[in-house]
Amino acid sequence: MNICTTVEEMRQLLKPARLANKSIGFVPTMGALHAGHASLITAASKANDITVVSIFVNPTQFAPNEDLDNYPRTFEQDVKLAANCGADIIFKPDVACLYPAGDPTWVEVTGDITKVLCGKSRPIHFRGVTTVVSKLFNIVGPTNAYFGQKDAQQVQIIKKMVRDLMFDIKINAMPIVREEDGLALSSRNAYLSPAERKAALVLSKSLTSALTAFNNGVVNTQQLLNQVIDSIQSEPLAKIDYVEIYQLPDLTACQAELARSNLLAVGVYIGKTRLIDNIILEETNVVDNA
Ligand code: PAF
Repeated sequence: MNICTTVEEMRQLLKPARLANKSIGFVPTMGALHAGHASLITAASKANDITVVSIFVNPTQFAPNEDLDNYPRTFEQDVKLAANCGADIIFKPDVACLYPAGDPTWVEVTGDITKVLCGKSRPIHFRGVTTVVSKLFNIVGPTNAYFGQKDAQQVQIIKKMVRDLMFDIKINAMPIVREEDGLALSSRNAYLSPAERKAALVLSKSLTSALTAFNNGVVNTQQLLNQVIDSIQSEPLAKIDYVEIYQLPDLTACQAELARSNLLAVGVYIGKTRLIDNIILEETNVVDNA
């Protein structure tokens, strides 16, 4: 497996694959890889001739008060995990490589899709994500890119960016990987104390019980939201950032009664750690990744 740190190296390394019309699968990450990332890398390597994984803790998606400096960095372990899952190339640029000096050029998806849910408390976050992902797409030139559905809003925003900017890339949204007890895997789970780890189960439990209610015929939007809010508020270590439902694919407002495909998403502080999770409530129970 190759480890590249510059754009030039990446272009040279991928040139033969491009000339031979080989498919390139790409998994962008910020490192601290876990089984969720492993599922993305494995899916990429099964479906493509070459698999590239980027590891870059992107400063522009963190606000000054967020955890950029403390974000877990576990490069040696990441290399092993990526290699075991079939990665061929790791791209590990430094900040100066992706953000040359001078005023930045931003790629920004506008509208409610970036303002609701995480966009409300993290107003610059998605502009940072779409800017870095476009840079990485231009460097790697993937056929397929893989993202985890845990970051459901990010997935929908990137799909919109790809449509609007006419990137010739298929975005594959892969199912959330969970611990046996239901906690969605996240690099930020590493921040949780044992008591917080237990308390964090309230996210998946509240979503699962809303899904059960929905499958049993409860379609009233407010009733489902209240059920989730009540359940999270019953956990003393949890503080709600948001509990919201939006229609997929563009995260538009729902009617009083749910129809078609909807994203029920939560952002919750467990102690100082902000965790997110979501579930799709769908009339037909068929996940729509449009
Ligand atoms: O989901 C992430 O890890 C990041 O937001 C991404 C897509 C790698 C961009 O920095």
